[in-house]
Amino acid sequence: QVHYRSDYRPYPYDIENVHLAFDLAPNATVVDTTLTIQRKADADGEEPLRLDGVDLELLLIAVDGKELDESEYRLIDDGLEVLNPPARFTLTTKVKISPDTNTSLEGLYLSSGKYCTQCEAEGFRKITYYPDRPDVMSTFTVRIEADAKEFPHLLSNGNRIEHGDLEDGKHFAVWEDPYKKPSYLFALCAGDYDLLTSSFNTMTGREVRLEIYVDKGKLDQCHHAMESLKKAMKWDEEVFGLEYDLDIYMIVAVGDFNMGAMENKGLNIFNTKYVLASQDTATDTDFIDVEGVIGHEYFHNWTGNRVTCRDWFQLSLKEGLTVFRDQEFTGDQTDHGVKRIEDVKVIRSHQFAEDAGPMAHPIRPDSYIEMNNFYTVTVYNKGAEVIRMYQTLLGRDGFKRGLDVYFERHDGQAVTCEDFVRSMEDANSYDLKQFRRWYSQAGTPEVEVTSEYDADKRQLSLNFKQSCPVTPGQEEKEPFHIPVKVGLIDELGNDIELKALPVNDADAQVEGDIVHLKAAEQSVTFDDVPEKVIPSILRGFSAPVKLRYDYSLSELIFLFAHDSDSFNRWQAGQELFSRVIFDLCDQLNSGIDLSFDESVIRATKNLLDDSELDGQFKSLALTIPGVSTLLEQVDTIEIDHLIKARNFLKRRLAEELELDWLLHYQTNHHVGDFEQDKESVAKRALAGTCLSYLMTLEKDSVYQLALKQLDNANNMTDASTALQLIVHSNYADKIKVAEDFYQKWQNEELVVNKWLAIMASDPSDETIDRIESLLDHPSFELKNPNKVRSLIGAFTGANPSQFHRADGRGYEYLARQIKALYAVNPQVSARLTGAFNRWRKFDEGRQLKMKQQLQDILSMPELSKDVYEIASKALQ
Ligand code: ARG
Ligand code: ZN
Repeated sequence: QVHYRSDYRPYPYDIENVHLAFDLAPNATVVDTTLTIQRKADADGEEPLRLDGVDLELLLIAVDGKELDESEYRLIDDGLEVLNPPARFTLTTKVKISPDTNTSLEGLYLSSGKYCTQCEAEGFRKITYYPDRPDVMSTFTVRIEADAKEFPHLLSNGNRIEHGDLEDGKHFAVWEDPYKKPSYLFALCAGDYDLLTSSFNTMTGREVRLEIYVDKGKLDQCHHAMESLKKAMKWDEEVFGLEYDLDIYMIVAVGDFNMGAMENKGLNIFNTKYVLASQDTATDTDFIDVEGVIGHEYFHNWTGNRVTCRDWFQLSLKEGLTVFRDQEFTGDQTDHGVKRIEDVKVIRSHQFAEDAGPMAHPIRPDSYIEMNNFYTVTVYNKGAEVIRMYQTLLGRDGFKRGLDVYFERHDGQAVTCEDFVRSMEDANSYDLKQFRRWYSQAGTPEVEVTSEYDADKRQLSLNFKQSCPVTPGQEEKEPFHIPVKVGLIDELGNDIELKALPVNDADAQVEGDIVHLKAAEQSVTFDDVPEKVIPSILRGFSAPVKLRYDYSLSELIFLFAHDSDSFNRWQAGQELFSRVIFDLCDQLNSGIDLSFDESVIRATKNLLDDSELDGQFKSLALTIPGVSTLLEQVDTIEIDHLIKARNFLKRRLAEELELDWLLHYQTNHHVGDFEQDKESVAKRALAGTCLSYLMTLEKDSVYQLALKQLDNANNMTDASTALQLIVHSNYADKIKVAEDFYQKWQNEELVVNKWLAIMASDPSDETIDRIESLLDHPSFELKNPNKVRSLIGAFTGANPSQFHRADGRGYEYLARQIKALYAVNPQVSARLTGAFNRWRKFDEGRQLKMKQQLQDILSMPELSKDVYEIASKALQ
């Protein structure tokens, strides 16, 4: 069944309040629900009252205290209808559910002996009968009852207003959330946790109690999460003037979780991966990710909870905005230039792929079969790019003014993306009519730029052409409003002042360094331009588009050495490397000896030697684009050639600059006391990059370096980098090294997950057999999403040479796991299925093999609609 955005109808009733009472038991949890219901003034009284409900055993249903007989209600597909409901009444239901057998990890489930919930998007209907849609908002009171010994902590949203002991060793707690909320923000946790507490004083002087609940024994791994939470609270006050609104903020970490984390009001539930972090077990990247996700969920309290979504088509309203906010937060804590590059890498490798594939959708989709399939990098990350463009168009202050209006108008409401646009528009008297197309059109716009220099007039013209490829259901595209940030760089490497000639065409304005691209074709001319300037276009990745400008090799090298915009400086290097790789692919196709221009080697060396550059930036700039990013730059590709070409480039750079990599490895690799300041983190990153080049030389002396780094490591960054390089090399004893690592860390689940991912992404031919047997390894568990992502996700996502084996065993492996998982965990298996989305890019043999697997999957009995949607769209 397909859901359409255009079908939206308001719910005909208000739910004034909700009383839930849980009697927790693994196979027979009883949920008592009392709803105070009021028909809306303009609603049709003849219509039955419809409630959602899935996998519920109805024990009782009563209206105003009187039990209904079977003629007064009707059980329907995924719900229930009360016939002839009064205009105002209380509805009581009692249902039985089974958290223990709930492997979907949606609704109420048990995770290593503790109860927890995940309700977004439509999980609340697996807990009780309810209008499970975000525009129905109500206040919740929740009573939880369970065994006191086994479940000493009973948690839900808001404030605990009552608790006490009961007979038979049970106890109870009652929670009240004063804020109206949709059901997707409901949460319940019960278990025996370790607890870290602290507090935060808000900008108006209120004290908020902070609590982080984790598995027993993990307390020492929560301090970073607690510090991150405080930073996030402070940051939102300082940057956006947004203050927390309850007296308590709780975070519970669970090991079985479909996603990263969830912003339930006052009671966030997190994947352990985004809470636990210590020097020994977490990498520098993990530390930053924890801080970012803690920030993300905290920021949702305003962008998501106080102002929520009218329907799920509006998801980007809260997710795009909140991702943007967490990106800015991380940038402020670390380095904006580096953060920008990392965010764009995700767009190019994943979002461009989604936009060009069978699941392409606008950031505000028009239809879906299963909502969980639309928690996508398009809705989230492209959504954040769209938010970033407002800031580019309106300026920081204008953007803030827009947000102020948004909160003024919509606090406490469930609203749409259109409401957001209008707030921005009205606050700034700025016309966003054309900009709205970013919400309605899918696909990655392509911007082609050419330049012309008029030596007599000393004028440089840039000619822009934009287009957007056809996507499923969208044959025709209208031009977007694309802000293109530009610079002009003179012979010495300095930016010249931009003097755009005035244009009559209102669409073709230039404001400062922003060219507003609005027409399909458009030109701008800059005055007073010396000869030989090089344009630097789309600085800071000012719009999520593919830019094409025909730079010469030497121009790219010049930009790589001089662009003052750190994003475009990085970009020049990426384009340089990409160009070499595609040239090498051509050489492979025509069977000639591989070679590329020496100047690329010198450019690489110059960057490596540049003493003014930050190590983190260097590390990014020296990293050759990944296979998934390269794939999105061409229509079809011989994957073996692509990988061979990429490896050839890396090895040649390693050979030619061997002493340089070694020198920089030695100056940046640090043994001794562990520090986590910016500089130390940057040094570890750069040392890792240098070592990864050296490893391609397959020299024993280098293997010894990596082994030494692994043995001596006093932190997980150095250890996991070394382990990965060894396991992904041809070092003869690598499996023994991997085994030792596993033995050492087998009791640290998150480290074991890293180990699984490293094993699965080993590019050697034996990997397929190894990951076959890892399915039975004690460290693996198909029911645990983190493990599935580590083993199977890393294989499909980070091991292109083995996943795309010509014999098809990689595809066969993936399909088998999807078939084993779809009934157990529909959401996670649908994600895995997405690995086949780009099948049309490959050669005929591989296309046929992938298609065959998709058809096989589609023929499975009782296939989940999650997997069905992905597989069937892939084949359309
Ligand atoms: N709202 C959560 C977040 O981004 C993610 C929830 C995802 N849920 C899902 N069913 N896919 O913070
Ligand atoms: Zn979110």
